Amino acid sequence: MMRVTSIAAVAANGVIGKDNDLVWKLRDDMQFFMETTRGHHVIMGRRNFESIPAKYRPLADRPNIVVSRDPSYDAPGAVVVTSVEAGLDLARAAGESEAFIIGGGQIYALALAAGLVDRQLLTHVAAEPEGDTFYPAFDGAAWAGERLAVQEADARNEHGFEIWAYTRR
Ligand SMILES: NC(=O)c1ccc[n+]([C@@H]2O[C@H](COP(=O)([O-])OP(=O)(O)OC[C@H]3O[C@@H](n4cnc5c(N)ncnc54)[C@H](OP(=O)(O)O)[C@@H]3O)[C@@H](O)[C@H]2O)c1
Repeated sequence: MMRVTSIAAVAANGVIGKDNDLVWKLRDDMQFFMETTRGHHVIMGRRNFESIPAKYRPLADRPNIVVSRDPSYDAPGAVVVTSVEAGLDLARAAGESEAFIIGGGQIYALALAAGLVDRQLLTHVAAEPEGDTFYPAFDGAAWAGERLAVQEADARNEHGFEIWAYTRR
């Protein structure tokens, strides 16, 4: 069975973005994201796709799936679908073992509310930046958390962070 994992970096106040961009430079977390998702289907919202700098878009070495209400939306290098479920169906049909929901806020909310997510990989960032996009609140009692990594703020990482994996109880 294909596992579905959402992966996000979330501030202490829930912020994940502002003005369709990230709000921090966390090189080691970005590296964790790139390594974790490499080789796997990644499913993202149309706005998130457009927020990725052109030279990194589509994300290399993994099938990119973009969710839009517009089935004729042109996402060079990516497949366009009109629902998260349709994206997951494509991944499943391709024999994927683990598909990643990579945001942004609308797509995380859709996937979590629909109960499509088996595991959340959350980087808890020690910061409370201003922002306009949030990771959805979830019922902490329903998920078992395990800390995977701790990183202090340093020259590569603007803020400290902890990476946690949450699986359904
Ligand atoms: N910190 C992190 O880990 C992280 C990760 C990813 C993104 N982000 C940030 O998140 C922000 C972007 O997130 P966002 O919430 O603005 O946008 P988003 O979730 O990336 O994309 C929203 C788009 O998804 C499509 N959509 C939404 N609901 C749909 C539905 N029910 N059916 C079909 N398509 C649907 C729509 O596309 P159309 O308008 O084309 O119909 C909508 O405009 C940026 O600031 C980005 O930097 C942060």
